[in-house]
Amino acid sequence: MILIDGKKTSELLQSEIAEEVITIKNNGGKIPHLAAVLVGNDGGSETYVAGKVKACEKVGFKSTLIRYDDTVTQDELLKCISQLNCDDDLDGFIVQLPLPKHISEEKVIEAINPHKDVDGFHPINVGRMVAGMPAFISATPFGIMELIKRYKIETSGKNCVVIGRSNIVGRPMSILLSQKGIDCTVTICHSRTKNLKEVCAQADIIVAALGRAEFLTGDMVKEGAVVIDVGITRVKSDKTKSGWKLLGDVKFDEVAPKCSFITPVPGGVGPMTIASLLYNTLLSSKKVIYK
Ligand code: GUN
Repeated sequence: MILIDGKKTSELLQSEIAEEVITIKNNGGKIPHLAAVLVGNDGGSETYVAGKVKACEKVGFKSTLIRYDDTVTQDELLKCISQLNCDDDLDGFIVQLPLPKHISEEKVIEAINPHKDVDGFHPINVGRMVAGMPAFISATPFGIMELIKRYKIETSGKNCVVIGRSNIVGRPMSILLSQKGIDCTVTICHSRTKNLKEVCAQADIIVAALGRAEFLTGDMVKEGAVVIDVGITRVKSDKTKSGWKLLGDVKFDEVAPKCSFITPVPGGVGPMTIASLLYNTLLSSKKVIYK
């Protein structure tokens, strides 16, 4: 069994990005610039955004953090987005989700200029990805594809089961895994899927992205399978200093011994997401996706 080291791979990807930034600087080019909009004081979002800003510093990007109180109106937020859309110094920006209930995430995402949508959430980027055109791919699916490629995991003709159909992970994963050059035969499963255990047991590759702690058990996985765990459920623990621990969607101790490759939680898919966001920002600054 090979443990996929997302932390190491993320560090490698970030050091590759940092090297490119040095080259850009040496050639007198413009430093890539990412902005993040954070609404309210959600603990998880604060941590994620702080991580993104810190990662920008580490690779040599410029970053801007824009904060709003959770009482901000939708109109005020949309106005901020249109200003960011017009800011020529900015290569990309993200609006951290979730947003307060009185703000429509759909309207906010649609207001972002697709050319600066480094989260890859805008329907134009999603549509371009589905059509096999150059597009910003959202961070988690991009990070997973990068792990698959860098660990040279065989995908052609393999049966792949994706559990979960979210817009951010499950659905884009199913598209990317079936695209030309990757060539998996993909089944996407969800809460209404019948015989999930039997379906999973046929899979060469399983992507567990349903958001239920330790859902995938040993009896659902065939010998030699590749298992990618996207889950991050925080549960109380008296064994850690913080009083919390993270659980994936996979019952690791049961599943890992049967696998050829598996991602741990933490240290698997999670660390790749920030590196993927930085990579999209670099692509934007180089005008690789939109000429
Ligand atoms: N909330 C959880 N994950 C993400 C992400 O990748 N991007 C944004 N904007 N918000 C999130």
